[in-house]
Amino acid sequence: MSDDIFDPARYYRLSISPEDRERLPYYSALVDTLADSSLACQLLAEARPEQRNPMLVLAALHYHALRADHDLAPLYTDMAALTPDAFAHAVTAVLERRPSLVRGELHRSTQTNEPGRSAVLATILGELSGRGVSDVHLIDVGTSMGLNLYPDYYRVNEDDTEGVVLTMEYLGEHQTSSPLPRIHQRIGIDLNPLDPENADDVLWLKACLWPEQPERIARFDEVLDEMVLWPKATRLRGSAVDLIDEALELCGPEAMPVIFHSWAAAYFSPEDQVHWRERIMSHVRTRALWVYFENPWCVKSLEPPAATAASPRAGASQIVVCELGDDPAHWGWAHSHGRWISFSPPPARAR
Ligand SMILES: C[S@@+](CC[C@H](N)C(=O)[O-])C[C@H]1O[C@@H](n2cnc3c(N)ncnc32)[C@H](O)[C@@H]1O
Repeated sequence: MSDDIFDPARYYRLSISPEDRERLPYYSALVDTLADSSLACQLLAEARPEQRNPMLVLAALHYHALRADHDLAPLYTDMAALTPDAFAHAVTAVLERRPSLVRGELHRSTQTNEPGRSAVLATILGELSGRGVSDVHLIDVGTSMGLNLYPDYYRVNEDDTEGVVLTMEYLGEHQTSSPLPRIHQRIGIDLNPLDPENADDVLWLKACLWPEQPERIARFDEVLDEMVLWPKATRLRGSAVDLIDEALELCGPEAMPVIFHSWAAAYFSPEDQVHWRERIMSHVRTRALWVYFENPWCVKSLEPPAATAASPRAGASQIVVCELGDDPAHWGWAHSHGRWISFSPPPARAR
């Protein structure tokens, strides 16, 4: 996930941000206990380098709990009956007795598809619309199940409304109230696009969610129910670097392509991040926008721009925007699941 020296115990401890630790006492205790387990550290080291993410181990354990594993299901189903420490030690004891539960899932990837990030994307698109971008094609790189291909179908901070409501707190002054641009093509690229009609894909994405946040699991179900009514998207299977040209070729001249990724480049190797940046910049003659929302610590090889203001909270993801040919610019910070945004786009340039 980053080019830092791999230290599994440290990765476990840092995998939950200080802000999220406050609302995730059970998962916080679990990552701390796993950090102290040499077996859990070894299992993380056995994952592919780009998947050495403690969330993969947490998702594997949660997956088996959801599949009614006789040891894990009771612990997860009745979590509140245990203290966080008791839960963490009990789950770690199961892992130490039955490492195959995790080892057997290490071929998978953490593909968490978080619709809350669409609230961040909608804010960016609203700002672009205020700057005259009225029509776009949306290319979502690392699309997983494609839940962020529909920023125009979610309702952000709207009560008493039909449809899926996303809640996002605006920190700071800048808000955008422009309507979203019209979205023409919706194109998702992923090494392994997940299918909302495949039961195991759905179960794996639920396992990637945090059991202490049942509201996210409920919202995921709600989105799947609604998504069948939304426009069909094009899904391209393969690596972003290999497929971006094909995706751009699908975009007609009637709208501006927006190449977007959230928490996807964080999973590219440093070399792939360099290739990705070079590939994007090779399209300098194409009129398109590159928009991303990633943790800058995990995407150093994309060379994210210096932030013009510090994040108001630790562990945030940086919002970066550029028109191809221009330098990428810092447009703010947001919680990695879109719980809050601190939006500070630079003034629009006269053209
Ligand atoms: C953590 S998920 C994020 C999903 C989604 N972007 C979101 O924000 O909800 C990362 C996704 O990126 C995909 N991915 C990782 N490396 C990729 C690559 N080189 N090309 C295309 N997709 C990739 C993974 O398969 C996974 O579905």
